Amino acid sequence: MQVHVTYKGHLHIYELSSDATTASLKEVICHNLDLLPAHQKLLYKGTQLSDDAALPHGKIMLLASSNQSIEAVKSQADALSVIRQRRVEAGAGKVAQVKLNSTRTQRDVENSTYTFHRISPLMHLPSPDTSDAFLHRLANDGTIQKVMRRHRYQVGHLTEMDPRLYTQHDSKTLGLNKNAGQEILLRLRTDTLDGWRDYKTVRMTLVHELAHNVFGEHDRQFWDLFNLLMREVQEFESGQTMSRGDVYIPPEIMASDGGGERRAETRTLSGSKTNEGTSARDARARAAEARTRKNDV
Ligand code: NI
Repeated sequence: MQVHVTYKGHLHIYELSSDATTASLKEVICHNLDLLPAHQKLLYKGTQLSDDAALPHGKIMLLASSNQSIEAVKSQADALSVIRQRRVEAGAGKVAQVKLNSTRTQRDVENSTYTFHRISPLMHLPSPDTSDAFLHRLANDGTIQKVMRRHRYQVGHLTEMDPRLYTQHDSKTLGLNKNAGQEILLRLRTDTLDGWRDYKTVRMTLVHELAHNVFGEHDRQFWDLFNLLMREVQEFESGQTMSRGDVYIPPEIMASDGGGERRAETRTLSGSKTNEGTSARDARARAAEARTRKNDV
């Protein structure tokens, strides 16, 4: 559903899933306008909407209860944690020398803000250590880190999904983003739990889920953002190639590189609104994703 929000005289239009609550709208606003959810007041016809309220169809007015931007709050908190960390590293009795304005510190702050704040595998599945390493590889992937910094994405919890719980007779879910970044679940394992899926395919799913931090539905805006993020990943990767000598995989190959498992997957096309765009790039991105829309947030 489209949600119309006025803020400081400007109209902002967001696309959210039809069952979205006020809380999820606040998350979306948080990403778009850099206002912490706690600092947002959403009014409909003069009445404040509670966080668990369903979103009304009319115009919603946003009031920021504080002028402090998310940026200011976070950089204060993170600067403090960097200082504390440096003090620990410097050892007792030594005063840590921290230049808060140095590039290094700024990078530290950004890295510790726009990141996955918690990472864990499913402990009841075989070899959770391998899944844990897989998740950390994704989180530490330079291309993912750059995308997250550039777009200021945060994810509360990065974890895997039990493939058996997300497979139906005609579709399977490859990834899930709960509440615009609160939690991202990725299908890391093969259906029979005897192995792990292709790294770059899973990474593409992660990029897809990161785009859901901003847009809930698979609409035009979502696919434009996804395509942008994938271009950036490829751009960053080709940059890395020059410095590290890794093999750069061109977008075309990467988009069609899924191995046997992905070819076997089918999509459900329940999101009728999302099927209008027919550009080749869009189609390729969708085909490449080959993912189900049914259970996806
Ligand atoms: Ni999706």
